Amino acid sequence: MREHPRSRAFADEARRNLLAGVPMHWMAKWPGGFPLVVAEASGSRFTDVDGHEYVDFCLGDTGAMSGHAPTPTLRAIEEQARRGITLMLPTEDAAAVSAELARRFGLPVWQFALTATDANRFAIRLARHVTRRPYVLVFNWCYHGTVDETFATLSSGGVVPRRGNLGPPVDPRLTTKVVELNDLDALERALAPGDVACVLAEPALTNVGIVHPDPGFHDALRELTRGTGTVLVIDETHTICCGPGGFTAAHGLDPDMLTIGKPIAGGVPAAAYGFSAELAARVETSIELEDVDVGGVGGTLAANALSLAATRATLTEVLTEAAFARMIPLAERWATGVENAIVDAGLPWHVTRLGCRAEYLFGPDRPRNGTEAHAAGDVALERYLHLHALNRGILLTPFHNMALMSPATTEEDVARHTEAFREAVAELVA
Ligand SMILES: Cc1ncc(COP(=O)(O)O)c(C=O)c1O
Repeated sequence: MREHPRSRAFADEARRNLLAGVPMHWMAKWPGGFPLVVAEASGSRFTDVDGHEYVDFCLGDTGAMSGHAPTPTLRAIEEQARRGITLMLPTEDAAAVSAELARRFGLPVWQFALTATDANRFAIRLARHVTRRPYVLVFNWCYHGTVDETFATLSSGGVVPRRGNLGPPVDPRLTTKVVELNDLDALERALAPGDVACVLAEPALTNVGIVHPDPGFHDALRELTRGTGTVLVIDETHTICCGPGGFTAAHGLDPDMLTIGKPIAGGVPAAAYGFSAELAARVETSIELEDVDVGGVGGTLAANALSLAATRATLTEVLTEAAFARMIPLAERWATGVENAIVDAGLPWHVTRLGCRAEYLFGPDRPRNGTEAHAAGDVALERYLHLHALNRGILLTPFHNMALMSPATTEEDVARHTEAFREAVAELVA
């Protein structure tokens, strides 16, 4: 507190006109009593208003996976802003971006939104529209944004509102089926009645800690969804960490739809959802032109000129093949440093990694599903480790213990984390 008088003063002042003293309620969760107020961010680092510099492994929880303010994105934003920001008409960037997304993810047809939440909402709506089915199936402890249908978990085998689900519009049992990741028998049983419009899945869970799919899981998921006429929607918003085409390209997935948001425009609000040729044809032929603006899909600012210019520059010049070739080995280095510190401290924890994202979990073994990953969480321990890191100039994501590498992250940044983490666990076991 003594080190952060200006952030502290902001917190006191902000209580007057901001709910819980923060511009978005989640920001109240940062450890330390009040959030740091940022003066500026560039590359892998940011500086707070009290002049402290931090290595940022949170990177806006993936929104800034491109690194902060990357030069090509900045240039495109500056140039486009002078030429118009939003029009309700396409600019040439729309075609270029959709071609690049098609090349990366293998789906030929695209639409745009402003957030991954909206991309998921629109994908669900269109899947329900073409299948005329009521249910959405998600995996236990998933997170796909603030999408009503996804705020459900399993309790004693039944679907219940997820803890903290604020004002659920309807009982989630009416909209949602939930199964554990890697439980193919339960998945088969849930899809068998033919009443599920779509499975909405991260290809590996990332929001309850990383949970990897078992070998063969995705082949079975594809077979079961295809066999029951269920639309398979893969949400790559976080798993883009696996490479330029996300988990989908890295592991040869073949979804009917794909959603992505967060980092694709370097932090400028932008998201996209893609369709297979077959699904695109079903959607196009089933919607009357007269209804396209009132059907619950889209938005006035979606596909605006600024977002698309930023997306084009970020995809073609920042989050490139060459960038991932640097970012992924850095995550390996981060994971090895943490793993060695855990072993040396004799703690029953482990480290897991997915592309350029890595994290430690408070249990000896890799979780196989959301329930196991959730059970390995420890809020007090997490807050201690996050605050310890913050006090040594390192920012982790506020949720679990995740670190993300950007094209601007350096070996020195990783070494700083390893050293601080060693110190933190040594203090814990002393
Ligand atoms: C997998 C996944 N999908 C979608 C979202 C929603 O993103 P946004 O909050 O930018 O709408 C998130 C957010 O964390 C996410 O992790």
